[in-house]
Amino acid sequence: MEKLIVHGGATLKGRVNISGSKNSSLPILAATLLTKDECTIRRVPDLSDTNYMTQILAEVGADVERASGVVVVKAENIKSEAPYDLVRKMRASICVLGPLTGRLRHAVVSLPGGCVIGDRPVDLHLRGMEALGAEVKVDAGNVIVSAPKGLKGATINMLGKQGSTVLGTDNVMMAAVLAKGTTIIEGAAAEPEVEDLANFLKKMGAKIEGAGTNRIVIEGVKELNGCDHTVIADRIEAGTFLVAGAMLGDGVTIKRVNADHLRAVLDALRKCGFAIETTKDSITIHPNGTAKGFDLTTLPYPGFPTDMQAQFCALACAIPDVSTITETIFPQRFMHVAEMKRMGANIDLQGATARIRGGAKLSGAPVMASDLRASAALVLAAMKAEGRTEINRLYHIDRGYEHLDDKLSSLGAQLERVKA
Ligand code: EPU
Repeated sequence: MEKLIVHGGATLKGRVNISGSKNSSLPILAATLLTKDECTIRRVPDLSDTNYMTQILAEVGADVERASGVVVVKAENIKSEAPYDLVRKMRASICVLGPLTGRLRHAVVSLPGGCVIGDRPVDLHLRGMEALGAEVKVDAGNVIVSAPKGLKGATINMLGKQGSTVLGTDNVMMAAVLAKGTTIIEGAAAEPEVEDLANFLKKMGAKIEGAGTNRIVIEGVKELNGCDHTVIADRIEAGTFLVAGAMLGDGVTIKRVNADHLRAVLDALRKCGFAIETTKDSITIHPNGTAKGFDLTTLPYPGFPTDMQAQFCALACAIPDVSTITETIFPQRFMHVAEMKRMGANIDLQGATARIRGGAKLSGAPVMASDLRASAALVLAAMKAEGRTEINRLYHIDRGYEHLDDKLSSLGAQLERVKA
């Protein structure tokens, strides 16, 4: 196990390249199971989550080759069972359910458990499979989906209590591309990662319209072919570096990004008073000595992303004003708060709303990484704090940030990865 030692107080300046999106890569890798042909996926970030996904693909029988961001998959002969040992390591493994059911008419996938950000049910995924005519059973911790005569297109509403579901929409879309007839997904998630998956599926020969909106129409086809695809930039990694630039920067530029995918985050930063310039593929953020507090609520895309909530908590700690952040997607996603308080942050958590009185001096302390984004927020707070912070359980960060420590070091941060 490794830990990160962060020496606070450094100023960040310079340029950094953003990696390919984790949350695009995972369903796109799963979608390679829909064809016997070879698929080439480029700009896949080197993360433990993408490694788990390639291991699952190999375990169900696909040939997988991976070298410097390029993954080549040929899933000629595959079986319908995804093993518990791998699936339990990553919730996103559930997105092999749609492709396996679509292609093999049968899938057995272990049910992912809850995680520190909340209960994380998969009822909407299962409702979608049933609506496409599959029989769904849960037995011995596995979900078993069968459609011996093949799936049939249907109109499906994917909205749940907390709004749309990203991986649920992905799963239904991946199953429906090989179903007979037309599928209409109402209440679909409109996240850029869903649109990226749809673009990949269209290159494979799928007929999909409306991805990136709340209504997706899919005309089933008989089979799909291989293709070559480059995943979009990781908007959450990009947002995290922008917050680092806001908190500690003297001009930080992130490159290879799509500013359109970051509108809500850029609006929030501009409202605080930060000056931001965008070009076709870069964003620069400039410091502001008189930043203002903010009130934010997380919402499905194009609203403010839950995956940036923890990082904005860290930002709020650095702004000498009162800010509030309300989490509506995962109301329990506040594991970072207790750790930040240990560093001296003044945060009052009431239900799913954090009220942050910023400007208190943060001091380095040993802290515990919990989930991915909470861990990133601790790194941000630690860079702002006086003295030395030790962040344990670094593997949470390695799930979703490609070379975070190297990239931050290249901007001037002082951090080192050591054996725990
Ligand atoms: N939900 C249900 N039933 C379901 C599925 C979801 O009630 O069957 C609820 C969830 O409990 C939550 C809401 O719907 O309250 C939205 O969850 P969603 O299904 O959209 O989450 P997800 O698809 O499992 C993806 C990202 C998460 C990101 C969320 C929300 C991937 C691999 N994961 O998860 O990313 O927070 O969408 O945008 O794409 C992260 O990268 O750190 C991360 C957690």
